[in-house]
Amino acid sequence: MRVLLAGGAGYIGAHTALALIEHGHEVLVVDDFSNSCIDSIQRVEALSGATVTVIENDLSNLEASRVALAGHDFDAVIHLAGLKAVGESTEQPIRYYRTNIDSTLNLLEIMRERAVTKLVFSSSATVYGTPELLPLREDHPVGNNITNPYGWSKAMNEQIIRDVQAAWPELGAVLLRYFNPVGAHPSGQIGEDPSGVPSNLMPYVAQVAIGRRERLSVFGNDYPTDDGTGVRDYIHVMDLAEGHVAALEHLRDGVTAYNLGTGRGSSVLDLVSAFEQAVGIAIPYEIVAARAGDVAEAVADPSLAHAELGWTATRSLADACRDSWAWQSSNPNGYGA
Ligand code: UFG
Repeated sequence: MRVLLAGGAGYIGAHTALALIEHGHEVLVVDDFSNSCIDSIQRVEALSGATVTVIENDLSNLEASRVALAGHDFDAVIHLAGLKAVGESTEQPIRYYRTNIDSTLNLLEIMRERAVTKLVFSSSATVYGTPELLPLREDHPVGNNITNPYGWSKAMNEQIIRDVQAAWPELGAVLLRYFNPVGAHPSGQIGEDPSGVPSNLMPYVAQVAIGRRERLSVFGNDYPTDDGTGVRDYIHVMDLAEGHVAALEHLRDGVTAYNLGTGRGSSVLDLVSAFEQAVGIAIPYEIVAARAGDVAEAVADPSLAHAELGWTATRSLADACRDSWAWQSSNPNGYGA
């Protein structure tokens, strides 16, 4: 298939581009490069030997997007374009809603105009809000006490896609609810390149290991978990990328949501020791106050994706730590440095 990969230069995007190419698909990336750079795509090309068409465009501008995409044919859209920093979204809600909602509306409008009927959307486990029952299944209620505009924008996008599909039955859409993506391509050539101080755990740990940060702050140790620190379902980004390919290749009528996770929960301290063991570098840390809006535990039940997409995560947390380090140690300052 010829796949329009919206947001394809970002962390998930670059790995997904590579996985698509490895499965015989052709990739067109559309990205505004507001939080990414062309280097990631150049490295995907070098790793795969394929050429990736790159269209620089802001998808939240409908007219500009129509013009930018004219003359490019594609059979399906994987939509990963959006802003994703939870804390920033509470400070800039208008920007987050405009970017994350308008890009989806505009892509759907253009897909309808051009009769492109396959959509894979990058959603998040954050749509479940505060989990009522673990592990999380796809039929868990959505919108249960979501604490930030980023999370709401994902839940709203899911609803928009459902409403558009109801009015346009030819559309087939998959909502992929990511748990916590970590790791990098094992080559260390592509990886996560956060701007400023990382807000996510794995890139922060990797920056402590390389000496860019002094120590990790562990946000709270009195959660009702085994060691008191927050528990998450960390999924290797290559597994996640392959989940997009499986979703695309099994796409059917209607709208279906799938969890992309491993089904295994790890605490903050579990991740720290997994990293120390995999990499052989001690990670100094201190316990500080819990972060506002964090939940104690979020772990997927990934069985639906296994049953219906034939997909399952195969890589371990140790693999993710080793590959994050391969990326961090060979690119200490990220891309272009
Ligand atoms: N944590 C720390 N110190 C840090 C960073 C994180 O202790 O410096 C802890 C958090 O409190 C949490 C765990 O590490 O317990 C994971 O935190 P992340 O920030 O890496 O990930 P979150 O689970 O908070 O959020 C992630 C994505 C969101 C997404 C959410 C869905 O960043 O985009 O998963 O569950 F919405």
